Amino acid sequence: MAANHDVERAVAALRCGGLVAFPTETVYGLGADAENEAAVRRVFTVKNRPATHPLIVHLGEAGWLEHWAQDVPELAWKLAARFWPGPLTLVLRRSARVPHVVTGGLETVALRVPGHPLALDLLRAFGGGIAAPSANRFGAVSPTTAAHVRADIGPLLDFVIDGGACSVGIESTIVDLSGEEPAILRPGGVSREDLEHELARQVPIRSDGPVRVPGQLSYHYAPRALVVVVRPDEVAERARLLRDQRLHVGVITTEPDSPPIADTVVVSGSDVEIARLLYAALRDFDRRGCDVVLATLPAEKGLGLAVADRLRRAAGPRPDISVTARGACTP
Ligand code: TXA
Ligand code: MG
Repeated sequence: MAANHDVERAVAALRCGGLVAFPTETVYGLGADAENEAAVRRVFTVKNRPATHPLIVHLGEAGWLEHWAQDVPELAWKLAARFWPGPLTLVLRRSARVPHVVTGGLETVALRVPGHPLALDLLRAFGGGIAAPSANRFGAVSPTTAAHVRADIGPLLDFVIDGGACSVGIESTIVDLSGEEPAILRPGGVSREDLEHELARQVPIRSDGPVRVPGQLSYHYAPRALVVVVRPDEVAERARLLRDQRLHVGVITTEPDSPPIADTVVVSGSDVEIARLLYAALRDFDRRGCDVVLATLPAEKGLGLAVADRLRRAAGPRPDISVTARGACTP
């Protein structure tokens, strides 16, 4: 686990334009000085992420909002006061301080104050904004431990702060406050119900906005194994059919009474537990050599909304040959 001098080393690396992976309560971030364009460009290169897909700028406290956004609406201050530090990202009109390379040329910027104490220490010691996507390669499963980060992109980084396993385990909820009405662009660690309660109004989920958010690509968050969404009552029979084809099957479910199925990995629990374990479980299925992961969707309330969203995307069509190569596995 990280100590004080780790934060100092990370700050020194950021000041030199280096890249630093750091823990947040959601997933690990791949951070660069948000005002250093060359450093931010390296983030896109390391992630293999298209330059048009904007990054979140992480801030040390809500008061920094004014430096990074303009025309900050009352609603933003309200949500910041209630949910920051925490798993909520606000999309606002960007200030002149935000380089175009961070926003992919957009006039809006995504901002968040993360809840992990080491992330806050880092941000406050650095004293500026840290642009950070999740610290994984584009399209892959997000990292929730420092070991995941090292395995994915470790050699390409200047420093990794190890803050243990992420407590929320799923990315922040993104709320767009740059238009007439607030809208959720990505469900995440703050539930829609809590947002709506705080704002005393309904907040629609918008998936067809002007921005092509990477998290909205259908194959995002996918492990190597093929993920197939099934109904709880189908799990046992599907698993049997797949095993008859000599395939190694994993199961991820929130059903408390899922039948024990030999030779499969069952991950069950509440929506909060599944969110925390989801990405590690998807990685674990790969490590165990699973060919197919059968996933049941939780009820889409609380964190269940975000878990269902990520599982559907993990099960979405993929742009590479693995789908056809594994076509025979698709039940
Ligand atoms: O929990 C999280 O949000 C994590 C941790 C590290 O903070 N970060 C994360 O970053 O998930 P990333 O880059 O994997 O996803 C950020 C999302 C992307 O889908 C991006 O398109 C969207 O935020 N985004 C960034 N700027 C935006 C903007 N101006 N308008 C709309 N969406 C934006
Ligand atoms: Mg990501």
